[in-house]
Amino acid sequence: MRIAVFGAGYVGLVTGACFADLGHDVVVRDVAEGKIDALRDGRVPIHEPGLEELLERNGERLRFTASVEEALEDVDVVFVAVGTPPTPSGDADLTAVWTVVDELPDVDRRVVLAMKSTVPVGTGRTVRHRLDERGLENVGYVSNPEFTAEGTAIRDFLHPDRIVIGAFDSRDADVVEQLHAGIDAPVVRADVASAEMIKLAANAALVTRISFINEIANVCEATGADVLRVAEGIGLDRRIGPSFLRAGIGYGGSCFPKDSLALKQLAANSGYNFQLLNAVIEVNELQKRRVIGKLERRLETLRGKKIALLGLAFKPGTDDMREAPSLVLAGRLLAEGAEVSAWDPVADGSGRLDGKVEIAPSALDALDGADAAVVVTEWAEIRDLDWAAAGERMRRRFVVDGRNALDAEALRELGFEYEGIGRTSS
Ligand code: UDX
Repeated sequence: MRIAVFGAGYVGLVTGACFADLGHDVVVRDVAEGKIDALRDGRVPIHEPGLEELLERNGERLRFTASVEEALEDVDVVFVAVGTPPTPSGDADLTAVWTVVDELPDVDRRVVLAMKSTVPVGTGRTVRHRLDERGLENVGYVSNPEFTAEGTAIRDFLHPDRIVIGAFDSRDADVVEQLHAGIDAPVVRADVASAEMIKLAANAALVTRISFINEIANVCEATGADVLRVAEGIGLDRRIGPSFLRAGIGYGGSCFPKDSLALKQLAANSGYNFQLLNAVIEVNELQKRRVIGKLERRLETLRGKKIALLGLAFKPGTDDMREAPSLVLAGRLLAEGAEVSAWDPVADGSGRLDGKVEIAPSALDALDGADAAVVVTEWAEIRDLDWAAAGERMRRRFVVDGRNALDAEALRELGFEYEGIGRTSS
């Protein structure tokens, strides 16, 4: 089939590359001409393992354009994969979505508009309305949310747990289901509103688990239990399961914070106070800040102390710093009068951290003269660091392991004071 993907961000590029890999003819369209030029030259503007190879391997079936007309020529399915950032009120900003909808020309054959961007429940119905108002009855509408995580996006797309397709007309759902031929996964067919809610509810369930285990970790600290053992012990219960029970300094990224806020607002706008989700979000905010308390307890004051942040990306395997705990931590540390250095193997913090944080060329350089190291992202490069050498460089051998990624015993043997999250500290 011929597919157009609107939006060349993480979701759009992964969607385009994977559908091309399944044998479809794909054109990716973005308004940012610089991005399109780079992609045409074989340069991929984001860090996503395997994406560059996949784009290259399927080069014959993939084109990039800034032109709407070119993208829509003879197209069967148009995927919308544009950003839906939060507005100041916490609602999703759908401006880019509406632009795509309004750009669609009148067509004399059936074309399916498939929504990949995460949108509030009810968006599909409003889009349908707008299409009908414009006389575009030939354009079908399908909600086909993505569940890909950064760093594993290609595997998640080609080997998903499920494919969700919500449609007003089953013919359109059939087309989108056929597009996925070659992917072995259960297909959940639903009405449009339910498909939209599946995406938001899945993310809400995952963030609830994270905030849950983080609160358990905090209670472990207060009571002398170890959250790693607790997570293992509860995760083996088949009704609970082991995933998303890693305690730490909270979730970040481009989806969880934005989508949980959007669901909270959606509920509130509909007259419902989603208390559980409110608490989940608040727990996450406080969790990022708990590191400050841990540092203060041992260093007494942060004023004039040098703190090294190891990892800036919101998780390993990505250069993405959107809503990363590192940003909140850096901000809080600077506000407390600390000197902050940072290192990340991939993420470039120079722009986001505004010149106030020293971005070091290596982890050891970041640790030079530091009074404490904070593991913010559990990169393998940080876990496997030569911690003996690190100790030599630091003013005080003190690590706050915000991801429980390090070997606490080995560090203590090297003379480090070690503090994880939800673990007994000695
Ligand atoms: C997430 C969802 O997994 C994906 O389905 C959705 O489409 C987009 O949002 P992503 O943001 O790429 O994907 O990252 P993910 O790997 O899910 O992690 C999100 C955040 O949660 C990270 O900051 C991570 O550190 C944190 N996390 C995850 C925990 O703190 N503990 C856990 O046990 C798991």
